[in-house]
Amino acid sequence: MSKITINSQTVITYTGQKSLLECMEENGLPAEYNCRQGFCGVCRTKKFSGEVKYVVDPLAFYDEQEEILPCVCIPTSDIEIGTD
Ligand code: FES
Repeated sequence: MSKITINSQTVITYTGQKSLLECMEENGLPAEYNCRQGFCGVCRTKKFSGEVKYVVDPLAFYDEQEEILPCVCIPTSDIEIGTD
């Protein structure tokens, strides 16, 4: 299980959901999305620390160093992200 820190304060735990986006939704956190398949980039989110793994190769443009696409990734360590 990975700890997910959001906007430096909210902490949730990843417990095996299909995607980080699903995990955020199950915890009542607002998350923007459209395709939910890594195509559109609407879910693009800043990543400050930690590692994720992509369950589907994303086609949307994003900065692999600083951003993630929560609709198609899962955390592989504790992560810190920003949704503001
Ligand atoms: S919702 Fe489209 S890339 Fe994530």
